[in-house]
Amino acid sequence: MARSDQRSYRVGPGLRSGCGGTAMKKRTIRDIDVAGKRVLLRVDYNVQVDHGAVVDDHRLRESVPTIQALRAAGACTAICSHRGRPNGVVMESLRNEPLARHLSGLLGVPVATARDCIGPEVDAAIRALRPGELLLLENVRFHAGEEKNDPGFARQLTAIADIYVNDAFGTAHRAHASIVGVSRLLPAVAGLLLEREVDYLTRVTVNPERPFAIVLGGAKMSEKLEILLHLCGLADVICIGGGIANTFLKAQGMDVQDSLVEDDKLDVAREILARVAARPGQQLLLPTDVVVSYGSPDSGNVMTVPATQVPSGWRILDIGVDTVEAFGRALRPVRTVVWNGPMGMFEHDRFAQGSLELARIFGWLRATTVVGGGETAAVVARAGVADRISHISTGGGASLAMLEGKPLPGVEALLDR
Ligand code: 3PG
Repeated sequence: MARSDQRSYRVGPGLRSGCGGTAMKKRTIRDIDVAGKRVLLRVDYNVQVDHGAVVDDHRLRESVPTIQALRAAGACTAICSHRGRPNGVVMESLRNEPLARHLSGLLGVPVATARDCIGPEVDAAIRALRPGELLLLENVRFHAGEEKNDPGFARQLTAIADIYVNDAFGTAHRAHASIVGVSRLLPAVAGLLLEREVDYLTRVTVNPERPFAIVLGGAKMSEKLEILLHLCGLADVICIGGGIANTFLKAQGMDVQDSLVEDDKLDVAREILARVAARPGQQLLLPTDVVVSYGSPDSGNVMTVPATQVPSGWRILDIGVDTVEAFGRALRPVRTVVWNGPMGMFEHDRFAQGSLELARIFGWLRATTVVGGGETAAVVARAGVADRISHISTGGGASLAMLEGKPLPGVEALLDR
């Protein structure tokens, strides 16, 4: 792609200090000439649509820089994505057509649609594209070959394409046909979103500017255990809230009463606590006060108590004000911080305050701040600080995999730099 083209589109907010440059060792759209070429662009538009309207367009907006760059460089672009889990059959509710309308609004240019993602009619529609034009193909998961990474299906997807661009970071942990299979058939490079995601998540987990902190929440310890094990040796500060914290509190001998606890994870929680205690200078913070509920989250009684004094029959559903302040104090000096998982039962207003207050602190840290996972992205959006975060990942499972230190098949399959 010509240098002059790069100035004509926004590549997203620059990496903040300590996170500069690119870490990705794969080729990107900057390394290839797409002028007049037919590009198959894989995006992750797996988003909720309600009565034909896109509910949260974060993933669509984040795909815009790559699409604009391809248009500016003169590519004829066929965009493909999955949506939902239709298991190889056509489901009217999961058609991609509403996405084309929304994308067209974001770009200010027409986005044509196709009723399928393979076949002679689709190939003809792609052939008819002129440089700069866009066609959104139908949901790739309407074909069983997609999730099976079927080589025949991948061949049909790439039938008349010259170049494959993967910008679907959210699906990069899936070895599916439109992610991995197609990469074996065409020159395959990363889009700008995929590059940015991999850069941020690599830099904050491999060689973060210190002090480095992780903030972990969410309901289940089992879902975050691998992140904890992977990053607890690297982090200077570890703040734990949400349901995960209950297991740690119990592992320390506290009676958390009816709170969610994973008893089969008590030993590993003790092991992590012991590892941290053995490392001079490393801090692991758990809730010291908690918001507890008796009865249903909507209608039951609610109060804040010390974490050591949860009354009989009550359960912990959020962190308290003192805990938010303590987490905030520990995070203030850090230079890099990753947050994954809400601090409480965020979907209920009564138990969202801990997450929201922490998000406000997070938004004002003088650090490279990275938010991973859809729920945590929703927290920072609701707290009104989304534009103050260095990077909000579009990936749920994919960002978890990176935080766990696992390679992503969709990234591995791309051409090396
Ligand atoms: C996601 O939303 O996490 C990705 O689009 C992957 O979707 P999947 O879990 O259905 O494969």
